[in-house]
Amino acid sequence: MVSIMLDFFIILFLTLTVLLLIVAIFNEYYQFRTKVSCMPTVPKVRKELLKIVSKYLDDNHKNIAELGCGWGGLAVSLAKDNKKLNVTGIELSIFPYLISRFRKSPKNLKILYQNIYDFNLQNTDIVICYLSNDHMAKLEYKMENELKSGSIVISSTFIFSKKQPIEVVELLGIYNTKIYIYLF
Ligand SMILES: C[S@@+](CC[C@H](N)C(=O)[O-])C[C@H]1O[C@@H](n2cnc3c(N)ncnc32)[C@H](O)[C@@H]1O
Repeated sequence: MVSIMLDFFIILFLTLTVLLLIVAIFNEYYQFRTKVSCMPTVPKVRKELLKIVSKYLDDNHKNIAELGCGWGGLAVSLAKDNKKLNVTGIELSIFPYLISRFRKSPKNLKILYQNIYDFNLQNTDIVICYLSNDHMAKLEYKMENELKSGSIVISSTFIFSKKQPIEVVELLGIYNTKIYIYLF
């Protein structure tokens, strides 16, 4: 009996190790491809991002998009906090996408397996992202062309190369994060 239990735990341990290795290898591959890790926003910053969304939201807004939604934590909170709006999370890294796609989430949340540069922003009223300065430089031109006048972009940590923010929220603490708000 003891030996059967031991075999079971060894097999379980080996299976979990192999699974973790596969996830780690895929994440490394996608990090290399997208040039950004799938690290989620820390809870304090997430809370502030939600507060900023509610501050800038107006009655005409219908759609929020999170570009690079990672494991889906922020996208789920956005959808729960804004039940009347459609929230779309876009993600290219396969395991974060699968977790976001299949985690328990409200009906107003849709997760797409897509490159953010191919996602059409013309119906998006509020964009949220936590990417990199390189991503922001590439997105600036796309956003200038696609976003409606009056759309809001909220970027954690990273800035556009030309456009100036209308507000910067600074969070002090171990992470010392700045959140940039842009009006298009
Ligand atoms: C730092 S994580 C942020 C995750 C989430 N937004 C959050 O704040 O918790 C950035 C995510 O963007 C995704 N990403 C980067 N470039 C992308 C691209 N071109 N298309 C789709 N997703 C991309 C990465 O795979 C990663 O999961």
